[in-house]
Amino acid sequence: MKAKDIRNKFLDFFSNKEHDFVASTPMVVKDDPTLMFINAGMNQFKDMFLGNTEVKSPRVCNSQRCLRVSGKHNDLEEVGVDTYHHTMFEMLGNWSFGDYFKKEAIAWSWEFLTEVCKIDKESLYVTVFEGAKEDGLPLDQEAYDLWTEFVPKDRLLTGSKADNFWEMGASGPCGPASEIHVDIRSQEEKTKIPGASLVNMDHPQVIEVWNLVFMEFNRLASGKLEKLPAQHVDTGMGFERLAMVVQGKKSNYESDVFTPLIEKIVEYSGKAFGVSEETDIAIRVIADHIRAVAFAIVDGQMPSNTGAGYVIRRILRRAVRYGYSKLNVSEPFIYKLVDVLADQMGEFFPEIIKQKDLASKVIKEEEQNFLRTLDKGINKFNTYLKELNSKTVDGKFAFELLDTFGFPIDLTQLIAKEQGFEIDMDEYQTALEEQKSRSRKATAIEVDDWIVVNEGEGEFVGYDTLQTKTTILRYRGIKAKGKDLFQVELNQTPFYPEGGGQVGDTGILISNDEKLAIHDTKKENGVILHFMKQLPSNPSDTFEAVVSKVKRVATNANHTATHLLHHALRLVLGEHVEQKGSLVNDKNLRFDFSHFQKVTDEQLNEIETIVNDAISKILI
Ligand code: SER
Repeated sequence: MKAKDIRNKFLDFFSNKEHDFVASTPMVVKDDPTLMFINAGMNQFKDMFLGNTEVKSPRVCNSQRCLRVSGKHNDLEEVGVDTYHHTMFEMLGNWSFGDYFKKEAIAWSWEFLTEVCKIDKESLYVTVFEGAKEDGLPLDQEAYDLWTEFVPKDRLLTGSKADNFWEMGASGPCGPASEIHVDIRSQEEKTKIPGASLVNMDHPQVIEVWNLVFMEFNRLASGKLEKLPAQHVDTGMGFERLAMVVQGKKSNYESDVFTPLIEKIVEYSGKAFGVSEETDIAIRVIADHIRAVAFAIVDGQMPSNTGAGYVIRRILRRAVRYGYSKLNVSEPFIYKLVDVLADQMGEFFPEIIKQKDLASKVIKEEEQNFLRTLDKGINKFNTYLKELNSKTVDGKFAFELLDTFGFPIDLTQLIAKEQGFEIDMDEYQTALEEQKSRSRKATAIEVDDWIVVNEGEGEFVGYDTLQTKTTILRYRGIKAKGKDLFQVELNQTPFYPEGGGQVGDTGILISNDEKLAIHDTKKENGVILHFMKQLPSNPSDTFEAVVSKVKRVATNANHTATHLLHHALRLVLGEHVEQKGSLVNDKNLRFDFSHFQKVTDEQLNEIETIVNDAISKILI
């Protein structure tokens, strides 16, 4: 079976079991402060688990593109070094929102793997949550008993909270999980060492393929678990791993998810695949990273120097560096792989076809710039080495090369070694840790649990009015960038939350005794949060919530102007122009868009005229 047939079989299997297909969301997350990129199929359903959103289909299935580059699930520096972790990957999932639970989820996963994919039953192992004292949770006996119908006891194992209790982050929906692992080693190896002893031991050929999570709890910021209003199922299967297993390969990169990309890399670099481990790692890194970078751009995240953009830039630079130092390619070539990707994945993810010109132009430019930086860094390094009186390179200098020129340590080590030097790695680690702790402190957000003042649901009334009577539903303290603030949810609110690039409303909350400022409004998981430096002395009072009118009207005008601008850009530059981000406030607007050339002065004039004409028509 080709990879795309495997994906279709999965979706057909669950469609036949009354699951509605849901398309993958973009990988780039714009409106959740806790997440930069989609890291699991469940992200788009978070609100449904929490009961914040109405469930339209109680059963759905999907293949979600995800990106994992750091944190408990993945580490960028490992990708490509091993054969089964990726930055971008597809997660096949079936979901029940308050509908079926463990019995069906378990039986269907088994049926799909053994009957549809025809994976040998003997090579499958299952792990069940063993329980966790600190959370007062026992062994997941129900799942264990259900699994005994399919798996003999010697292949049915128990696993700790780290592996068998799935949590999206420090807080949020979570629950015990059953994982399915597959042993793809040769018969000879299996006889020598039993597969059971290799499960969850980072063996490249005894790996987890499917995680069945039984969502029952919400983890509060305090660490306590509270029961969710209903029980749900969230399953996630690694598509690339499944393709490897079904196609009888020993590495994800040998399945046809990756072979077309690898063939092209071999063609451009003139280096063979499968001959030397060092070259293979470089080829795997590039084959993996091009997918992440191209899809991130297509999904609206340009490489840049901060935040999510920096993550994408780092991934791409890692690929360029491997190409440069291990495949000896000193010209841009990675961008040429976008065409292969579009041919391969465009049928299921049409976005990549629509935006492939943009993605390849952006990648080419990034490659060019970084190759120049690499050259400059190498010159600087060589000058430094010439003046050095010892054989040890200062760890702080190695860190500076990373920080300013994007030289990862192994490249610096490689260049140093080639010329008979070594790096003071302890000093380097210290410099790195210092920087990590600086940036952790700068971005850390601590959130307290909610204090409920009144029961009820918040309602937005800001399209009709800028002022309303209201009460406080709940509030919580947060600490962001070292400042103490409060987030307040109101029963009725005219405050427009930040969204679609538009800044949140500001205004005041008035009671009989006091007037307090609301200095920002944001939306998180469907809840409108009002940011205040000080809480009312009596939170259970009745209040008048008043939006700053001058600011809102000016912001609205700028928001309308972004639509006019977008329209004019499409008329003048072409239909391919897509919005890639925007910032709208009461003073000005910024509109990011996709286009592969500099806009000429004439085009700019034309765009301005169209927008100004439209504005004068509105004013007349
Ligand atoms: N949420 C689980 C995971 O990401 C199952 O989909 O592994």
